[in-house]
Amino acid sequence: MSGAPRPLVVVGAGGFARETVQLVRRHAAVGPAGESYAVAGFLDDDPRRRGTVVDGTPVLGPCEDALDHAERGAALLICVGNPGDPTSRRRLAERLGLPDAAYATVVHPLADVSPDSRLGAGTVLHAGVVLTAAVDVGRHVAVMPHVVLTHDDVVGDHATFAAGVRLAGGVVVEDAAYLGCGALVREGRRIGAGALVGMGSVVVHDVPPGEVWAGSPARRLRSAVPSSARASLLEDRP
Ligand SMILES: CC(C)(COP(=O)(O)OP(=O)(O)OC[C@H]1O[C@@H](n2cnc3c(N)ncnc32)[C@H](O)[C@@H]1OP(=O)(O)O)[C@@H](O)C(=O)NCCC(=O)NCCS
Repeated sequence: MSGAPRPLVVVGAGGFARETVQLVRRHAAVGPAGESYAVAGFLDDDPRRRGTVVDGTPVLGPCEDALDHAERGAALLICVGNPGDPTSRRRLAERLGLPDAAYATVVHPLADVSPDSRLGAGTVLHAGVVLTAAVDVGRHVAVMPHVVLTHDDVVGDHATFAAGVRLAGGVVVEDAAYLGCGALVREGRRIGAGALVGMGSVVVHDVPPGEVWAGSPARRLRSAVPSSARASLLEDRP
């Protein structure tokens, strides 16, 4: 795609947001169809970050300003998220209530996406990510470096994959689930909505929604979310 790069505003200014800004700044055309973006700045609700410069990129204002930036033609990316709050990206997307066209989709040039795989709006694939065949990835999904998603995997909106996660074939990862660094998931298993899988875990059973599982083989550690939030996640389960 030719023409001037579209301004990009990144919502959140934490670790994943900073990594994604570095990706976009270092590579010319990172959209799935070759779209190019120029980072305009971060938005962040932490008043201590307001008006500061993070890694050379300004924090322009609070997350609510995303609506104004979208109206002025900027593309957005929601890059909040951490293992302590697996559903934060989903809540922010709901709060902003913007259509898919408002969001960029970013694919590192060294990610390998099979032509029959699908990526939703607002999703980010970092370096070394591989989608082998017929992988269906939803909207606002964060995929950190060297994650491997294999044939027929289905990933719901707002899911997060920390570096080095590998899924066998036909795995389903539901909305806003979080898989910690290096987790492995056996073929055909389901990771429930808002569940959290600990780093280095080997998942051989389905993980129910809203639970934290860890270890090899992975076992239940605790609930990931308060019971009220868990009820709403269960209602939304596909
Ligand atoms: C699973 C996890 C969320 C648990 O955190 P927590 O609730 O604070 O749990 P604790 O650290 O108190 O550990 C509770 C128990 O689980 C064990 N445990 C914690 N994480 C584990 C893991 N990944 N694998 C195996 N056991 C684990 C602890 O050893 C401890 O066992 P013990 O009571 O016998 O000593 C956390 O360890 C984790 O893996 N987070 C993901 C980290 C990650 O990938 N970050 C990516 C950032 S980009």
